[in-house]
Amino acid sequence: MDQIRITGGARLNGRIAISGAKNAALPLMIASLLTDETLTLDNIPRLADVALLKRILGNHGVDYSVDGKRPGQDVMTGETLHLSAKTIVDTTAPYDLVSRMRASFWVVGPLLARMGYAKVSLPGGCAIGTRPVDLFIEALLKLGADIEIDAGYVLAAAPKGLRGGRITFPKVTVGATHVALMAASLARGETVIENAAREPEIVDLAACLTKMGAAIEGAGTSTITISGVERLSGARHTVLPDRIETGTYAFAAAMTGGDVLLEGAREDLLQAPIELLRGIGAEVVVTNEGIRVVRNGAGLAPVRVTTEPFPGFPTDLQAQLMALVCRAEGTSTIRETIFENRFMHVQELARLGADIQLEGQVATVKGVSRLRGAPVMATDLRASVSLVIAGLAAEGDTTVNRVYHLDRGFERLEEKLGRCGAQIERLVAA
Ligand code: EPZ
Repeated sequence: MDQIRITGGARLNGRIAISGAKNAALPLMIASLLTDETLTLDNIPRLADVALLKRILGNHGVDYSVDGKRPGQDVMTGETLHLSAKTIVDTTAPYDLVSRMRASFWVVGPLLARMGYAKVSLPGGCAIGTRPVDLFIEALLKLGADIEIDAGYVLAAAPKGLRGGRITFPKVTVGATHVALMAASLARGETVIENAAREPEIVDLAACLTKMGAAIEGAGTSTITISGVERLSGARHTVLPDRIETGTYAFAAAMTGGDVLLEGAREDLLQAPIELLRGIGAEVVVTNEGIRVVRNGAGLAPVRVTTEPFPGFPTDLQAQLMALVCRAEGTSTIRETIFENRFMHVQELARLGADIQLEGQVATVKGVSRLRGAPVMATDLRASVSLVIAGLAAEGDTTVNRVYHLDRGFERLEEKLGRCGAQIERLVAA
């Protein structure tokens, strides 16, 4: 298996092109199941999760093609993907695919809405928590579906079509909001989603569905109203920039010191992390090219942070923030409220010399004056990249194992950091 080796100590200086958001690209690709016309998506990131979802959609009968490279296009430019679900050949999403990527469970919404039937494997547990699907099922029941769970599969049926309903989520859920949006777009009558997720990726999906002919109001607020339509058409949509990739490289720049321009990054997508970075001691400047993060020698201040749904501080940046404050001057506390088991990076950061105490959902991080490189491994995407951030500031070599986690969600990570002066290389397994 590939490894990433980092020799710590180099400051980051230069530009990093921010890719399209993984967590927007995935639901947008799934939305192609809602129409028999072609959905064209620009700025699709080249990621393992995207490749896997192409395969999963192919299984349902979606034909896809990718545009070739155009003159002047950089390797960092996202792909243009054309998806055509003219004929759905299979309404089953099998265990071996859904268990590899939880978001593929979300096909349940469009398949049910368009075909009146879907059989989708329960995703099972995952490294960051139990992650149940009860709220998806509640939402689809409210839209008139019959649901049975049998032999590890959700069997959802609505032979006469879905009908609008009132869905009130007891807690904010991104995935079930995506699914409710997609399903309600093709339901008869009006649906109101209360306590909807407000994440930018929800707004992006709603914008694309609207281009496809859906009637959606309120995306980005906690009440979304959808007036169902009989059919949706093809459309063309550009995936928004990845706010988690942006935040990750912003934290890396703050960690090492230096001056990095995050090209194409949008400030409105990450106000809480930007505010926090400024409080920690980095200079963050919004320019017409993106977001510039500068730190010149000044020490890092400790923080008190709680992860929250958008617009709060995102759980997907919690591990990266923890790596950063390992070097703060003082003690930080980080409370994780979204997932119950998202601290797998703590023991690995400790291998690099971090001083972190865990008590339930709260990590107390005492800043240390130096980190020392070591071999480490992680069990999920964001945990892995937190180890990269720590490795960039550690003395000596850090080797990150299980790089496939990184490849799921960070496009050309070693190239992007390497272009800014990081000493980082991929050791390809023989
Ligand atoms: C999305 O996951 C993201 N994934 C996650 O990013 C992100 O961490 C998460 O939202 C929170 O922002 C994608 O967009 C592909 P949720 P999702 O439903 O939709 C509970 C990454 O690293 N819940 O908002 O699965 C759930 O267990 C990933 O890129 C139920 O209890 O998250 C959690 O505690 C990881 N029942 C909370 O809600 C349900 O039926 C929020 O989860 C559904 C969720």
